[in-house]
Amino acid sequence: MAARNLLPIVIALCLGAVSAGKHDIYSGYTTHKVSLRDRSDQDILHDLELKLDLDVWQHGFPGDVDSIVMVSPQNKDEFLNQLDKNEIPHSVDIEDIPKEFEEFDAKMDLWRRSRQRKVFENYPRHGEVNDYLESIAEAYPDLVTLVDAGLSFENRTIKYVKISTTNFTDSSKPIYFLDATIHAREWVTTPVALFSIYRLVENLRDEDRDLREGIDWIVLPVVNPDGFEYTHTNTRLWRRTRSYYPQVNTTCYGVDANRNFDVSFNTLGVSSNPCSDTYPSHAAFSEPETRIVRDIMLEYVDRIQIYLNIHSHGYYILYGYGNLTLPANSAQLYHVGATMGAKIDSLKLPEAGFYRVGNSGMVLYSTSGSAQDYGQAVGIPFSYTLELPGYGRGFQVPPEYIDQINFETWEGIAVSARLSRLYYNDRKKNV
Ligand SMILES: *[C@@H]1O[C@H](CO)[C@@H](O)[C@H](O)[C@H]1NC(C)=O
Ligand SMILES: *[C@@H]1O[C@H](CO)[C@@H](O)[C@H](O)[C@H]1NC(C)=O
Ligand SMILES: *[C@@H]1O[C@H](CO)[C@@H](O)[C@H](O)[C@H]1NC(C)=O
Ligand SMILES: *[C@@H]1O[C@H](CO)[C@@H](O)[C@H](O)[C@H]1NC(C)=O
Repeated sequence: MAARNLLPIVIALCLGAVSAGKHDIYSGYTTHKVSLRDRSDQDILHDLELKLDLDVWQHGFPGDVDSIVMVSPQNKDEFLNQLDKNEIPHSVDIEDIPKEFEEFDAKMDLWRRSRQRKVFENYPRHGEVNDYLESIAEAYPDLVTLVDAGLSFENRTIKYVKISTTNFTDSSKPIYFLDATIHAREWVTTPVALFSIYRLVENLRDEDRDLREGIDWIVLPVVNPDGFEYTHTNTRLWRRTRSYYPQVNTTCYGVDANRNFDVSFNTLGVSSNPCSDTYPSHAAFSEPETRIVRDIMLEYVDRIQIYLNIHSHGYYILYGYGNLTLPANSAQLYHVGATMGAKIDSLKLPEAGFYRVGNSGMVLYSTSGSAQDYGQAVGIPFSYTLELPGYGRGFQVPPEYIDQINFETWEGIAVSARLSRLYYNDRKKNV
């Protein structure tokens, strides 16, 4: 009897302990805003990033966008000393990360329960994403084709949709390929991909009719479902995949999927430490998740006119190559990217930043093995990385901003689709 009476208390204590401890691995970690004055500050911060294993949540731009940097308690003094020594202005951003994350969880709990929301008005789980893709493919069989692209390392089914009024048979139409959630923790990218489907399929507006009729679409909302689920169940700031190669390292799981593509692989902006967030893996395309993106690109490379690899966060539209070499069509790349950025800027909230557009190596830092560069290198004329707004809250973009980000980003996607299509007519003429 006594034991039975105790049971609920024991359960309550256990649950309490579990939820209170969920984010404890970030105990003592802090984030800092760093105001870069010039390119040299940017380089100093990038060196510190590698040396002190900093987690740069948002890459800053000199004189404009602050960097947001998370540092461990062990490296904090050294980090701040180095900034001071170089007279780089900085301030504390989040002092107590576990507390901030617990508050966000509580807020999300309320957000989910307060009213019924559509899947893209929320931060959905991978299962909910797949349910949505299945439901619209079922409801719109003449327009939407659901593809099971294969399994993730942990055997989750990676699905994408093809949207076409002509079932992908009309090669006079360009293809727009967009994907999201290649980096697990970048939660706000998933709704943006889903909202694009909603606009094209369930909620077509007259002004978007040309986009549905004149373009074929491929939308892959969750490239990295294993990492993504892990951010929900275990480690909120997980970025990598969840692969495991005991022959390489028995301690750490996963690689940076956005360094794993076979383009200048393992050369720039990568770490040789298998535990690092920029570890590219022991081999290009070691990950089933990146092979799926590759296979989509190669299957349709003659027709994919534009590829958008969606990330969070930082207000950037970037193009190749990560090694600072510009593709031959860089003026056009800039034109389409800048038009997209300007469109989003014209719709942004006052508290949001303006988009920066340019070569990823020049605007931010050198990289290799990125999805953006791979798309460009295999022949997609307009291959971009999009860094969505973070509203100063890191990867925990408050849910009340999701609608705005969906709405404004779709308008940007729409102008980039129309403009890149003009160049497609040229591309077809020239072959
Ligand atoms: C589209 O074409 C594929 C074959 O490529 C076929 O399996 C599918 O049924 C077609 N879908 C529609 C809606 O016609
Ligand atoms: C995935 O499924 C295969 C085949 O059933 C199995 O051999 C493998 O161990 C699974 N992988 C993981 C990580 O569970
Ligand atoms: C895995 O890599 C980490 C980081 O380099 C290293 O500290 C660790 O010893 C490695 N473990 C094994 C078993 O190789
Ligand atoms: C930069 O990368 C691109 C794409 O792989 C390649 O074509 C180009 O030759 C590289 N440039 C240099 C200087 O290595």
